[in-house]
Order: sequence, then C-alpha cells, then structure tokens
Amino acid sequence: MADQFDNNKDNDQEQKYEKFCFLCRRPESQAGKMIDLPNNIHICADCMQKSFDTMNTQMSNGNMNYSDLFNMPNVSMIDLSSIQNPGGQAKKIKKKSETPKPVINLKDIPAPHKIKATLDEYVIGQEYAKKVMSVAVYNHYKRVATDTMDDIEIEKSNMLMIGPTGCGKTYLVKMLAKLLQVPLAIADATSLTEAGYIGDDIESVVSKLLAAADNDVEKAEHGIIFIDEIDKIAKKKNTNQRDVSGEAVQQGLLKLLEGSEVEVPVGATSKNAMVPMVTVNTRNILFICGGAFPDLENIIKERLNKQASIGFYADLKDKYDNDPHVLEKVTVDDLRAFGMIPEFIGRLPIIFTLNGLTEDMLVKILKEPKNAILKQYQKLLALDEVKLEFEDGALHAIARKAMERHTGARALRAILEEYMLDIMYEIPKDDNIGEVVITEGYIEGSGGPKILMRGQELPALEG
Ligand SMILES: Nc1ncnc2c1ncn2[C@@H]1O[C@H](COP(=O)(O)OP(=O)(O)OP(=O)(O)O)[C@@H](O)[C@H]1O
Ligand SMILES: [Mg+2]
Repeated sequence: MADQFDNNKDNDQEQKYEKFCFLCRRPESQAGKMIDLPNNIHICADCMQKSFDTMNTQMSNGNMNYSDLFNMPNVSMIDLSSIQNPGGQAKKIKKKSETPKPVINLKDIPAPHKIKATLDEYVIGQEYAKKVMSVAVYNHYKRVATDTMDDIEIEKSNMLMIGPTGCGKTYLVKMLAKLLQVPLAIADATSLTEAGYIGDDIESVVSKLLAAADNDVEKAEHGIIFIDEIDKIAKKKNTNQRDVSGEAVQQGLLKLLEGSEVEVPVGATSKNAMVPMVTVNTRNILFICGGAFPDLENIIKERLNKQASIGFYADLKDKYDNDPHVLEKVTVDDLRAFGMIPEFIGRLPIIFTLNGLTEDMLVKILKEPKNAILKQYQKLLALDEVKLEFEDGALHAIARKAMERHTGARALRAILEEYMLDIMYEIPKDDNIGEVVITEGYIEGSGGPKILMRGQELPALEG
C-alpha cells in the first residue's frame, strides 16, 4: 500500500543498508517487511497496526475529532524537521550478508615479527611491549579467522598496558590499528559513567567502534577498542556515595570485555528514542586498556620493601626507591590495591608495562621514526630550499630539557617549537641563506644557530 510513497532515490547503495522501524527501532530482519514512508522513514507492520488500533478506539469513543489527531502527545513530540534527513548514510547500518565471509584471512595476518618490525619504524624502544602486542594481536586474529575451530576455544587476549605519561601507549595502539587495517576506536574511560548518569554509557565505546567501521557491524566485530586512562576508573577510596564513574564503570565493562551481545545506538553515543539500535557481539573485539597508573609505583615499592625486610633475606629498606624498573614488577595484587576490581583485571590476561623514556630514547624519537619531528622541520625548510641540521649536542640538550618536564615525548615537540619559532620567522627573510645548523649553545642559551649562506660559510649569528 505504501509503494506509492516509495522514495525514487532507492539505488544499489540503499540495498546494502538495513531499514529500521521508526517507532520501535527494530531492524527489518527482526520486525519483518517495512512499510516505506517518504524521507527514508520506515514503519513495521506491528507498529502500523497498533497506531490504527489506537486511533480507531479513540475515534469510536466519540470524544475525539480529526483535528485532535495532531494534538496527540506522540504526534506533537516528533520533531518533523529532524526527520527530513535522518543523517543519510551515517545513521544506517549495513545488512549482515547472508553467507558470512571471513573478514580476516588467516594468510593475510602478518607474522608477529613482521608486525613488530613495522612498529619499530615508528615507535622507539618499548621492545617488550611491542613484542607482547605483536604476539597478542597475531593470536587474536588467528582466533578470529578460525572461528569454526570450536573444540579448543582459544581465549581472548585482552591487554592492559601500564606506563608513564607520554611514553607511547596511545601511539603504539594507533600504529597497530593502522598496520592491521582494522577499525579502531579510542575511548576515554574518564567520560564513562554508569547508565543513567550524566556522561557516556559504557556501551558507547562499542558505538564508537561501529562508527569507525562505517556502521558495518561485521567489520566492527573484528575491531580493536582501546580504552585509555583506565586508571582513572579505579575504585574511589573512602567514599560513601555511589561510585558511578569508578567501580560501576569497571563492573559495566566486564561483560563487554568477556564478549556479549550489546545493543548500541547507531550514530550517537546515547540511547534515545530517535536513533536506531543494532546488536553487536563483542566476542571477537580486542580490548586494549591503557593507563599511566600514577602512584602504582609506590604501591609496588611498599610491597617489595615489606617483603624485603622480613626474615632471612632482609634487605636495605630503600633498595627499590631508585629502581627505574620497579613498574615491571607489578602484580595483580598491586593493581587491586590501586583500586581495580579483581573481576576486571581477570579479564585482561595480558598485563605489560612500558618503560619511561630515557635521554637517549628521546634523542632517537627526535630523529629516527619515519615521521620524526626533525624530519618534519627539515621537510618544511626544504620547501624554502634551506637545509636544516642539528648537532648531536643540541639533540641531547633538547632531550634533557624534555626530561625535566616529566611529560615524556610530548615535551619534545613543545620545546622544539619554541626554538624553531625564531628560525622559521627569520629564514624566509633572506633568500641567500642555504643552511641552518642548530647548535648545543643555541639550545642552552649561550649562543646562536649557525647560519650558512649559499655557497659560503659564515660564523654564527645572534639567535
Ligand atoms: N616510544 C616512542 N617512540 C616514538 N614516539 C613516541 C614514543 N613515545 C611517545 N612518542 C611520541 O609522543 C606522543 C605522545 O605519546 P602517547 O600519546 O602515546 O602518550 P601516552 O603514553 O598515551 O601518554 P598518556 O598516558 O599521557 O596518555 C606520541 O604522539 C608520539 O609522537
Ligand atoms: Mg594516551
């Protein structure tokens, strides 16, 4: 009956997406054939029938006339302007294809050493972390690809990475997803709250992944969700109030981590009447949690010192105070003392730490990665046909300054930006400048950069 209303715009593209009932939000695969209305609105037969029934009874009561129709609460609540164009493609969902073809092919998964080799091109140091992640990711996708192998179920290798700020946690995950060409959602644990409170629902992490996968449910079900700042949802100590953004979020994450069917809104982070819902199974989604876990070191030290001062092997009490590798000795008990609930840690079987960056690593980060900051500046100046060089001493001076800021590799860019400002300002003034050498003196404030004219060499100028 509604064929006459059918949108003529229907095309192949349209066919790939599932229709949703505008009222009950069930997809066509559940609710049966939809009745199409203009503006891409679809209504399932059940809802249509219900609407007619309601109208009939009200009308036949005699206490309603036709104009009252438009005063019915449900009718006036629908904001017509919002349905004119319900977001086009963005709010649609790809139909599940009838014969599910494997999204990931076993043969296509790069071997762990290849994954690590690619990570090496971008991420300096963190050898252990890179190795663990490469193996974990490789195993995970093997598990996904051989879904039929049911006898021996390989368990999911969700990960927890712990490391000081700016040491490459988020960066590592971003590189990994780029390399694997799987959808990646980076969510922030700080914005999550228990359902019903102000903030994002816990399931919103899955909707983010769905968005990253172009609303393709199948693709999303093989993606990676990185939950950053996971340490910020530690159980709050000494509080009598309900801990809606801490412990409750950890509890809410449990079922996602383990694998369950979740109903998520499409194209929005919160559930409400106007957005379609879709079911996503998180069984094959790889979860990586990361956090800086400040103070965790103290918890570990306290435990180690206690152990060390008991009995036969009694040791110096402050033996671990200056140990740079103390974080590596983390145990599940330490994490629990930090405020993570045991069920939560239990679902992250792979726990590893990243090292704080040393001066030498910072120097390497400046110049070695494929997209190193130095290379970026060199390229910028090369466009002016000016060569940019850094003395080794200058790089170490920059690294030392970065170490003082205690923000990891993030400080490098800020510091370099400061020193390069003058240079980027002055160079284009004079066409004759052919080369700039950043000296240690310039960084330490005791001299200027060396400026070389085209074809000749001049002594250092004031910076
Ligand atoms: N090991 C590394 N190799 C190369 N670059 C790095 C490394 N560590 C950090 N960086 C650089 O520093 C930037 C910040 O790092 P990142 O965002 O990964 O920090 P983080 O560990 O997630 O810190 P936070 O806990 O504060 O979120 C990255 O974008 C990257 O450019
Ligand atoms: Mg981060």
